[in-house]
Amino acid sequence: MSRKRAIESDPNTSTNKLLLLDVESEVDILHATLPEELLEDAPAAFTITGHIAHLNLREEYVPYKYLIGQVVLDKNNNIRTVVNKLDTIESEFRVFKMEVLAGDEDLVAEAHEGGCKFTFDFSKVYWNSRLSHEHDRLVTEFFKPGQVVADVMAGVGPFAIPAAKKRCFVLGNDLNPESVKWMEKNRQDNKVGTSSVMRDSELSSCGLMLVDHQVQDALRISNDDGRAFIQRAPLEIWKRPFAPLPPPATVLRKLEKEKRRAREAAKALGGAADANPPVEDPNQMVQSGQPSPRHISHFVMNLPGSALEFLDAYAGSYTPLLQEADFPGKDEMEMPLVHVHCFTKEIEPGMGEMDILEVSDWATQSSSD
Ligand SMILES: C[S@@+](CC[C@H](N)C(=O)[O-])C[C@H]1O[C@@H](n2cnc3c(N)ncnc32)[C@H](O)[C@@H]1O
Repeated sequence: MSRKRAIESDPNTSTNKLLLLDVESEVDILHATLPEELLEDAPAAFTITGHIAHLNLREEYVPYKYLIGQVVLDKNNNIRTVVNKLDTIESEFRVFKMEVLAGDEDLVAEAHEGGCKFTFDFSKVYWNSRLSHEHDRLVTEFFKPGQVVADVMAGVGPFAIPAAKKRCFVLGNDLNPESVKWMEKNRQDNKVGTSSVMRDSELSSCGLMLVDHQVQDALRISNDDGRAFIQRAPLEIWKRPFAPLPPPATVLRKLEKEKRRAREAAKALGGAADANPPVEDPNQMVQSGQPSPRHISHFVMNLPGSALEFLDAYAGSYTPLLQEADFPGKDEMEMPLVHVHCFTKEIEPGMGEMDILEVSDWATQSSSD
């Protein structure tokens, strides 16, 4: 006879309900093992990141942690590792300490978001699948292709990589060397980095030549403190804008197709097939690619606990540009939009706004004192 499942997956979220009271198997392992008084409040949820399920067990369940871990593992085919978060988030790099309860000791996860693949060591970097809507919101609603985006606390790249994929020019920075290491891998895996240079071969197969062969990355990665990054980024992009990007792969494919068709048509007419038949002026298309603007359109600061305290770093960060001979003047300069993520204890939106403005004011005031 069918009974309720021990673990019920909710296909709409990455959070899955763990119902310890109703177990599908004939042997109700947990029911049999957990003391009566713990049944009612049994762990209610776990979150999935790639192949890893993470629990946040309350103290009274810790003696049963391996059993609970094993049940989660056994009942979910897509999970290979079950971990328990050991404490609250570790402050500086926003990383949880965790213990493997069941399954493989493999904490390198693969997650998908915004049409991109992300790989990272879950025990060494920050990742939160619940932020996917926020990542998507900024990338789709705010960032425009061709704009420069500077992510001050980029983590493994959930804003930076989709933005670069959208053909923004991105400066991705993080203080955690592990974040930077995985952001680099994600840049390559999603072909928004050095691998775009490899698209030279695709270009030449279409009869295209890059103008100066300086196809740079759409994403430049750095490992600085956010404050230092904010202060140097405006001058850096002024002095060293990104080189033009190659045409998108879809355009390249279309050109390749046109070239093949032209060759076949020439053959059918009995003429010698031209190895490089003219196609819709492809070099023109490549040459028309613009280098990045020399100013930043968006800064992103997703470090909610303390991002507001970095605001004072913007003061004076555009001053070095005034020394540049070709700088047209500050009235000609587009100022960036700074997206700051922060917490407030206030529940009512108006109060929340006041609270946030108060801290921002304090942060910017203290720089001018
Ligand atoms: C909440 S995470 C956000 C990561 C990523 N932007 C995301 O949305 O998933 C905050 C990031 O800030 C980085 N971080 C912490 N302190 C920093 C600092 N002083 N300068 C730059 N990055 C910092 C951490 O390493 C972490 O990757």
